[in-house]
This record gives sequence, structure tokens and C-alpha cells, in this order.
Amino acid sequence: MRKLGRGRRIRANALGELALKSKKVMTQTLKQKSFKKLVVANWKMHGNLKQNETLLKDFVATISNLKNTQVVVCAPYPYLAQLQSLLQDTDIAWGAQNLAKEEIGAFTGEVSAAMLKDFAARYVIIGHSERSTAYCESDENIAKKFVTAKNHGLTPILCVGETLIEREAGVMEMVVGKQLDTIIKLYGPDVFVDAVISYEPIWAIGTGLAATPAQAKSMHQFIRNKISALNNNVGNRLKILYGGSVNPQNAVQLFEVSNIDGGLIGKCSLNAKEFEGICQAAEKAN
Ligand code: 13P
Repeated sequence: MRKLGRGRRIRANALGELALKSKKVMTQTLKQKSFKKLVVANWKMHGNLKQNETLLKDFVATISNLKNTQVVVCAPYPYLAQLQSLLQDTDIAWGAQNLAKEEIGAFTGEVSAAMLKDFAARYVIIGHSERSTAYCESDENIAKKFVTAKNHGLTPILCVGETLIEREAGVMEMVVGKQLDTIIKLYGPDVFVDAVISYEPIWAIGTGLAATPAQAKSMHQFIRNKISALNNNVGNRLKILYGGSVNPQNAVQLFEVSNIDGGLIGKCSLNAKEFEGICQAAEKAN
């Protein structure tokens, strides 16, 4: 082996130390990033001022100071101000269930990312199957919304998932892969940095029939591998949630799965006791 001169040795040692230090910082960052589970309430089109107030006060009393779990509430647009006023001094974050892909202009009925930021929203659900089926949202539209959210510093929660027919035909990975590919092709894999993907098999939403931990594990692994193959760091940092008939009982097993970083919760997020049970399952699973 070629010997290095003194000056080069010192520089090589310093570089070695620097590499070690940055590896340590990177490991710490990864640990911090993947440390907290994320549990998101998707209230869908439910609630009113009075019910929300009761529910939010219950959330604040029971799940606002969890150490290992970030709780988020995504309510209909008109209630963002209420979320802000009741949650602003707590650790519970809030967000919306959709946003416009455009920045501003003549788009009647749309709500922009900047408007969500006016109410200190931090998260936004994108591409939920209830929207893509009922309002014919294309993968391209969803991709544009995703990048708009990112450009405004909102954390997008991108929903992906297959129908029952697609699962039975064994093409679920192809379907989910295609949903991700549209975003990757348009904006590259780095757009997923610090984003959240929620695997929501359509057959599990609101049916009481959740995916088994094994089914969820396998799809979560597929999603992470797909992003990691393009950018390992982004793939490692990605939070992948599971959504679809999560309840306090099945949450215990689901959240134990190493690749399940939390949940996107519909029906059970409208009941303070049940939502608390799910958040506590996440807290214990960490
Ligand atoms: P449920 O928890 O009611 O099945 O809804 C899941 C969902 O769609 C979350 O976005």
C-alpha cells in the first residue's frame, strides 16, 4: 500500500473523522425522523362546530402530550380556524383533506396551499380514493397537488391503494407502483423527501375489514424499496402509514410491524375513546 506523507495523513484522519461525524449525524437524523409514529385523523365530511369542539377538547385532554407519537387532525376546510384556535398551544398538528393544484386565480370552489398556511395547517391529504373515484382525480392532478403542497412547506399525505378486484388479480403492487410512478416521472424521487405515503387498500376503507399485518407489511416494504432504489436516504426517511378500518384492537398488531409508521384513521377518529386507543397503540409500539 502506498504510504501517505504526514500532511496527507493528517488530512486523511480529519476526513475520516468528518465522515464518522456526518455518519453519526445522519444516523441520528434518521432515528429522529423514523422515531415518532404518526397518527392522522381524517374526519372526511363529518362534524360541526359543537361536535368538533367536544372532540378536540377530548383529544387535547388525552393525547396531546404523547412522547413517541405525532397526532394530526385533518378536518373539512371550514373548520381549519377552529382547529387552529383549539390546538395551537398543544402538540397536536392539523391539516386539510385536499388542496388546489393551482396557486391562485379563477378556480371557483378551490382552496389553495397558501390559504391552508394562513390557518397554520402543516399537513394535507392528497389523492384519497374517495376523491379520485367520486371526483375523477387523475394521477397527474394528484402529482401536481403533491408538489404544490411541498412547494408551500406542507407535508403531503399521499394515499395509494388497490381495489379488491386488483388485489384478487394479484396486481396490487403494479397498481400502487403506477400511482407512485406518475409523481416520480414528473418530479423525480427526491420530491418524496419528508413526505408521507398512506397505503389505503380501497377494499379496507370503511368496510371493517382491515388488511392483515402481513398484507400491509408486504406493501409497505414494496413502497419503501421502490423509493429507496431511486434514493436510499429519501426512502429511509419516508413515513408510510396504513389506513383502512383501523381500530384500537387491530392497531396494536399493525403498529408493531416495523415498516408501518402510523395510521390514517377515518371512522374511529370521530370517537375520542377509540382514537385515543389507536394513538396509545402507536405510542406503545414505538
Ligand atoms: P376508515 O378508518 O373509516 O376505514 O377510513 C379510512 C380512511 O379512508 C382514512 O383516510
